[in-house]
Amino acid sequence: MLVLGIESSCDETAAAVVEDGRRILSSVISSQIDIHRQFGGVVPEIASREHLLKIDPVVDEALEKAGVAIGDIDAVAVTNGPGLIGSLLVGVNYAKALAMGLGIPFIGVNHIEGHFFSVVFENPPIEYPAMALIVSGGHTNLFLAPEPGKYELLSRTRDDAAGEAFDKVAKMLGLGYPGGPVIERYAREGDPKAIRFPIAKISDGKPDFSFSGLKTAVVRYLRENGIEPVKEGEEPSNEIKDICASFQDTAVRTLLKNTRKLAKELRPKVLIVAGGVACNETLRTASEKLAESLGVTVYFPSKHLSTDNAAMIAAAGHFHLQRGERSATDLTADVNIRLQNTGEHVSAKDGRKVPYRI
Ligand code: KG4
Ligand code: ZN
Repeated sequence: MLVLGIESSCDETAAAVVEDGRRILSSVISSQIDIHRQFGGVVPEIASREHLLKIDPVVDEALEKAGVAIGDIDAVAVTNGPGLIGSLLVGVNYAKALAMGLGIPFIGVNHIEGHFFSVVFENPPIEYPAMALIVSGGHTNLFLAPEPGKYELLSRTRDDAAGEAFDKVAKMLGLGYPGGPVIERYAREGDPKAIRFPIAKISDGKPDFSFSGLKTAVVRYLRENGIEPVKEGEEPSNEIKDICASFQDTAVRTLLKNTRKLAKELRPKVLIVAGGVACNETLRTASEKLAESLGVTVYFPSKHLSTDNAAMIAAAGHFHLQRGERSATDLTADVNIRLQNTGEHVSAKDGRKVPYRI
């Protein structure tokens, strides 16, 4: 079965052709990073306009690279939330029109479930119960998937997502956008124990994440020590490199503290670490160590599948299509969609259930 996946939830226009949910025939990603970099972050209006320009050529390229004709595609899977509304609408409407024109099924996929499925291409089949730490620029969630297609949200961030914290800290250090890769690069040359930044404690005792306190601690440290941001084209000082390393070390420890606690309690067979922040080597190494100490297998996607892509959307779509699920023609973009116990799409805004048509 050939599924065409389409992803346009944020600043990547992506299309992929995936065979039988596990084999990537093509995965094309057109990133808008260079356009948004000059603004220091994603500008939603610009993002949706760029998606409009790119979606058709990106789908064409995905078909061409896969060596298949449009008529060979069996179904279309598209991200329909969460994400930026204008960006999501481009992908959803394109996918719906394409599928309807071809007379083939289509299915809306939750972007977070897509990240969950990003590990299926390069690892053994997922064993359940699985625990998944999904860490990106927009999300920081820890799920337990007791069985395929069911997701229980164990923890989430109360404020900033982990990737957002990397992006904001990089911005205040004058290191540009996106922050994750550049902080990781300079962290390699710094001392992770140089500065003690705090790991947030949630006052109501829930095992949630919080990153805004860490970000504020970095701001305070810069102010108290009179440290200026790096000027464009300049090599960062050792002090800045130490801040990068200490911040990264604290962010990773923040992520794994809850994960360790809940994994000990719930004993999953597999730990999945996915999303853009899963590119981070310090997080990978620490997750491997944690998994080893708990006797759990850890699955990562390779780096090009950690950040947003359409192959993971096609894989998640394939899973649902195999179960006989289809989206109806009134499928729409929903920025508030959550991944819930039942596998149903539930709007967080009004609790409205958006069931699959079986
Ligand atoms: O999954 P993704 O491409 O998009 C979202 O769904 O948000 O994740 C992008 C995020 C950005 O915040 C970026 O700074 C972060 O992932 N990121 C990293 C690394 N590479 C990307 N964070 C830490 N270390 C990295 N190496
Ligand atoms: Zn993502």
